[in-house]
Amino acid sequence: MSKEIIVSGIRPTGNLHLGNYLGAVSNFVKMQYEHNCYFFIADYHSLTTHPNPADLHNNVKQVLVEYLACGLDPEACTLYIQSDLPQIPELYMMLNMHANLGELERVASFKEKARTQPNNINAGLLTYPVLMAADIIIHKATKVPVGKDQEQHLEMARTFGNRFNRVYQKEIFPEPYAFNYGQELVKIPGLQGGGKMSKSDGDGNVINLIDTPVIIRKKMSRAVTDTGPTEPNTQPSAAVQNLFDIMKLVSTADKLEHYKNLYANCAIRYGDFKKDLAEDMLNFLQPIREKIIDIQRNEMLLRKVAQIGKEKANESANKTIQECRQAIGFKSF
Ligand code: ADP
Ligand code: TRP
Repeated sequence: MSKEIIVSGIRPTGNLHLGNYLGAVSNFVKMQYEHNCYFFIADYHSLTTHPNPADLHNNVKQVLVEYLACGLDPEACTLYIQSDLPQIPELYMMLNMHANLGELERVASFKEKARTQPNNINAGLLTYPVLMAADIIIHKATKVPVGKDQEQHLEMARTFGNRFNRVYQKEIFPEPYAFNYGQELVKIPGLQGGGKMSKSDGDGNVINLIDTPVIIRKKMSRAVTDTGPTEPNTQPSAAVQNLFDIMKLVSTADKLEHYKNLYANCAIRYGDFKKDLAEDMLNFLQPIREKIIDIQRNEMLLRKVAQIGKEKANESANKTIQECRQAIGFKSF
């Protein structure tokens, strides 16, 4: 298999949760040994919501710690903080000159934000897909591991890259495509019966990697179920199906089978089921949590990792930005 150039980032908005891990970061860990990977913490992107400086810094640090605890290896991949790359805002500015208001206004994520936060419809929000395109094409990425919700943004990254190539008559950027490791896309459901585990639905809906056993047990005991099956072999409700889906990921196949049989025979006791699931979940997360606590204290390691990532990512970004400057006609005298 030939090596792909892979880029992906996560906005630093708090602790990573099980959905982030199983849906994204665990795949990054596998990819890093097979491809040329750039993984970053998207702190420029988080400015759209105006975080205060201390929170921003803590969140960036926390994601860096958690990336490392999940197994990202700064020797194998390029792991960096987005704001350590001034080439990204430079490319973003160049791409913005060829991005049309109409096409940006039609982006689903912008329309959604404009509806949900009418008091903060800033230009950064409008041009979010341009910044994301710059993140991706600055390293000439061909594959981008992201969830389904990001597909429209990727399409725009292709549009902006192709447009730049066409306008300046240079084949600088290849087309980046969404990439799912393995076959199907994993969507980790939430605990409150909702579609996906997401921090925007509140802390009770997510299991964070850093959650203590006490917290995990408490959240699991409050996970939404239903009144129970009344007839044999019926389809579980969405909320109960969610818990089965989670169990499939953290428990043994035998255990899952055991509870499915109890359900099919109307003999399931949700209290026991959730307790058992909580224990498997905390055992699954225990090694990651221990590493988080360990790495959190290791300021020297974090400084070193950030520095190495910054140097490697700058090298790649510098090459591309020089090509863009040339293509545009910026030349030194
Ligand atoms: P959140 O919805 O909690 O704000 P983000 O949107 O910041 O999470 O997601 C960061 C990364 O984690 C993305 O690549 C996304 O696809 C992945 N991800 C988030 N939640 C899930 C989930 N429930 N299942 C699978 N992947 C997820
Ligand atoms: N928009 C992505 C999200 O919300 C985060 C992101 C920013 C990203 N830049 C990126 C993901 C570049 C992949 C590649 O999840």
